[in-house]
Order: sequence, then C-alpha cells, then structure tokens
Amino acid sequence: MMLITLKEMLGEAQKNGYAVGAFNTNNMEIVQAIVESAEEERAPVILQASQGGLKYAGIEYITAMVKAAAKKAKVPVALHLDHGTSFEQIMLCIRHGFSSVMIDGSKLPLEENIALTAKVVEAAGPVGVSVEGELGKIGGTEDDISVDEKDALFTNPQEAQMFVEKTGVDALAIAIGTAHGPYKGEPKLDFDRLEEIKKRVTIPLVLHGASGVPNESICRAIELGICKINIDTDIRQAFARAVKQVIAEHPQEFDPRKILGPTKVEMKEIIKTKMKLFRCSAKA
Ligand code: G3H
Ligand code: 13P
Ligand code: ZN
Repeated sequence: MMLITLKEMLGEAQKNGYAVGAFNTNNMEIVQAIVESAEEERAPVILQASQGGLKYAGIEYITAMVKAAAKKAKVPVALHLDHGTSFEQIMLCIRHGFSSVMIDGSKLPLEENIALTAKVVEAAGPVGVSVEGELGKIGGTEDDISVDEKDALFTNPQEAQMFVEKTGVDALAIAIGTAHGPYKGEPKLDFDRLEEIKKRVTIPLVLHGASGVPNESICRAIELGICKINIDTDIRQAFARAVKQVIAEHPQEFDPRKILGPTKVEMKEIIKTKMKLFRCSAKA
C-alpha cells in the first residue's frame, strides 16, 4: 500500500471512536515490529521519526525503511515527522515523501506559533501532506503540578479554538498532564480541560507522552476525543529489556541477529497490546 495521510487516517478514527497508535521508530527492527504488529492486529498505523531518530538513522534510511514496509503491508501506514522544528525541516520531509508532519511551535509565543504553523499548512496542504500542530507544553515530569502551573503549561481551550481556526491544522497535540519519558509517579490527566477543548475544536486531538499512562486514562481520553496516541518510551524499554536478557543469558553472543531479533518479539507484544487498548485493532 502507498503511504496514507494523517488526515485520512484520523478522520476514520474520529468517526468511529478509536485512536490510531503513533509509534516512534529509529531502526529496522522497530519499523518491522510496528508494521508486523499492525498487520497482525489489522490496525491502521503511524510510524513517526523524532529529531533524535532522524539524527540517528538519517532521513534517507528512515523514509526508505518505512516505505519498504508500507509497500508490503496490507494495512494503511502513515509516515509522520514528530516534533518538527522548522519550516525548512518540514520541506525536507515533504521532499522525502513523508505523508504528514508535525510542526511544534509550542515553545514560541502564541502569535509566532500560529504564524509558523499556518505557513506550514499553507505549504503542506496543496501537496497532500497533513499537519499536526501543538499548543501547550508537553514537558518533562509534571507530578504534583500546581493549579497556577497547570494554567501556564496546559492547553488553554479558547486559545486552542483560535489556533485551529487561524492555522487550519489537521490535528492538534494538546497538553493535559502527560509528559515525555518514564513517569516518576502516576500521571493525572486533566479530563475537564480535554472536554473543554473538545467542545471548541472539531479536528482530531493528539496525546503525546502516552507511555506509562494507565489504561483507564487512555480509554477516557479516547472517549473524550483523542484520536492519535504517541508511544515511544514503552518501545524503547521493551527493546532494552530484550537486549539485556539475551546478553545476560548468552554473554558470549556476538551475532547481531541473535541479539536484536528477540527485541522484535518484546516490542510487538507491547505494540499489539496498545493497538487493542486504542481500539484500532480490526479497523484496517
Ligand atoms: O517526542 C520525543 C520522542 O519521544 C523522543 O525524542 O528520539 O529525539 O529522543 P528523541
Ligand atoms: P513517550 O516517549 O512518553 O511515549 O512519548 C512519545 C511522544 O510523545 C513522541 O512524540
Ligand atoms: Zn511528543
């Protein structure tokens, strides 16, 4: 199958009340684990490349690996740029065949975030590439966050409405209490805020930092309008667990295939469990 856009994929998810998993990839084993999981679950899937992923593997390798996997796959696959940093990087990804991009202007003042995101939409839209924007700060650990801090960091519903109207983005990443990386305590999501945002914004909403978020919170977030869920850390941890286990059990092993092969089994277990949880299994 050809790569499909985020807009198309998330449109279906929104209509049918599920979320699509967006999994970060950095190498061949991760690409294969994600796409094999999607095929076994018959789930649409998003493979995304972060800044670190692009730096590590190189844009040529990332795009070639994902396109090769998508071509063979019998399920819809999207290739997405995660946390895009500049207009130039977005153009580079479009030239390399990404079917969707995220422009993360969340560190900029609101008006500058709007201007940059609108510029990206204006360039990407006509060539059939979808755009995810971000409003609010999905930062590090947000345990014991105060009410004042919440208002400063989390997505403001009125601003979200204005942001979507002014930029024309296809999907919006929001800050409602999740954070990237492993959590120290249990993350508490601000569902009232999500409901307020959902009342004002009709496009699909995106949840970042979803590794380690309790299942019940994920289910509630989907019920309240989250249509794309980003997972990276859970996959990294599965990968690392498998490598450590092989090395511990077979310290003399030096064949990369014997060391890395088992990571796929461990990663697929996690990915398939997420797909079931997101209710995107059997939707392709
Ligand atoms: O959103 C961030 C990713 O989870 C990790 O980014 O690959 O650049 O470390 P990185
Ligand atoms: P986690 O690493 O916390 O799963 O977050 C992934 C993410 O949001 C990528 O953009
Ligand atoms: Zn993220």
